[in-house]
Amino acid sequence: MPKLTAISLFSGCGGFDYGASLSGIDVIWANDIDHVAASAYRSLLPGTEFVIADVRTIKLFPFADILIGCYPCTGFSIAARRKW
Ligand SMILES: C[S@@+](CC[C@H](N)C(=O)[O-])C[C@H]1O[C@@H](n2cnc3c(N)ncnc32)[C@H](O)[C@@H]1O
Repeated sequence: MPKLTAISLFSGCGGFDYGASLSGIDVIWANDIDHVAASAYRSLLPGTEFVIADVRTIKLFPFADILIGCYPCTGFSIAARRKW
């Protein structure tokens, strides 16, 4: 059976994506604005194309079966600012 593919937004150091890959999903593309997160991500998932950029500047995304997204919760979290 062919593997499901995924792209990932707000990918950070790759926690979600690493879990997805362990469950057999091929995470083909990921994005985050943070260089340090990118470095950690690339160590964890070296086979994934990782684009360092503000997501708002990306015009085209690769096709995939699944979109993994873990947007910043700072404005919503009870552990943070709670400004929304
Ligand atoms: C909750 S964390 C992601 C956690 C990650 N998905 C994981 O599983 O480890 C949210 C991420 O959004 C990124 N981020 C915030 N604003 C962004 C933007 N405008 N473009 C791209 N990434 C952004 C942050 O750098 C941060 O890594």
